[in-house]
Amino acid sequence: MSENAVPSQTLTEYCNSLDYYNVNFDVYNRVSQRINRFSDWIDKSLPKLADSMEISLPATGTLNVLSVGAGNGTIDSRILPHLRDKVHPNVRAIFLEPDLHTFQQCQNLVGKESPRLQGIEFDWRQQTFQEYRSTAKEEDKFHFICCFNSIYYTGDMGSSLRYLYDKLHSGGILLITLVDGKSGGGQFWQFLNTSLGQEKDFFTSFDLEEACRKQNIMISEVQPIGIYVNVSCCFDPPQELTEDGRYLLDTITRSVNFAQTAAAELRKDVLRFLRSDTCSSITADGQVILDGSNSAYIIRRP
Ligand SMILES: C[S@@+](CC[C@H](N)C(=O)[O-])C[C@H]1O[C@@H](n2cnc3c(N)ncnc32)[C@H](O)[C@@H]1O
Repeated sequence: MSENAVPSQTLTEYCNSLDYYNVNFDVYNRVSQRINRFSDWIDKSLPKLADSMEISLPATGTLNVLSVGAGNGTIDSRILPHLRDKVHPNVRAIFLEPDLHTFQQCQNLVGKESPRLQGIEFDWRQQTFQEYRSTAKEEDKFHFICCFNSIYYTGDMGSSLRYLYDKLHSGGILLITLVDGKSGGGQFWQFLNTSLGQEKDFFTSFDLEEACRKQNIMISEVQPIGIYVNVSCCFDPPQELTEDGRYLLDTITRSVNFAQTAAAELRKDVLRFLRSDTCSSITADGQVILDGSNSAYIIRRP
């Protein structure tokens, strides 16, 4: 733990409560327009990516997909029609999502979107990656695996990465998106890692690259996904924070009620760093815009 670190018990890791986490994340999605940015990226990049896949499957075969931490499904289900249209007409997708409420949202969305998702069979698993991993059969393999902003929660990154890579068929693709280590959000998380001590793991793309190096896993391509978040509402005094301000602050610090529970000195340091030009830009009318850009890592199994 660094000199500035606060004892970890003063801040509750909000991932321990998936309910709370997912309510926070809804606010983050709305304010950052993350879903739109990801959807645009998928519609632009997935057709080319799917075209580049060298998979030989008979007409009667099935393209197997694994989605880790599918969330409400908006992003994860969007890749599937591209794979169906470009790679193989029969797709079977295992969707892993541990949080019951989010899992049901995902099922509802897929139900509503069924005309767009024709030819795609869903295998629903309300479980964590770790639970899936402990029960999956050795012979279960996938042509496409996606972890859209979920690799943070799968435990030891090197071990998860090796497992997911080994689960690919030859010619398959592992797609991982996460916060870019160079972005303001990435720098902010590295700052928090130091300030809060090692009890919290704020993974960024730097950690993924290091894990790939250690595991001898080659990265084929990295693509940027620009995400900018107006975090001005996080700077109100703790008692005056709006609901958005509180949830947003909790999402980016990955804590429960950070404003009220963090020591005053730590809160000041964190907010000061958040608005610094390492992380954010300030608009002419004083809005603080955090650069929360992500990177998409494309890993192919030869
Ligand atoms: C940042 S959200 C991303 C959701 C979705 N993939 C998207 O991009 O919109 C992370 C998701 O991972 C789920 N999650 C949390 N812990 C997990 C675990 N151990 N295994 C799999 N998923 C997990 C959360 O419930 C949440 O829905």
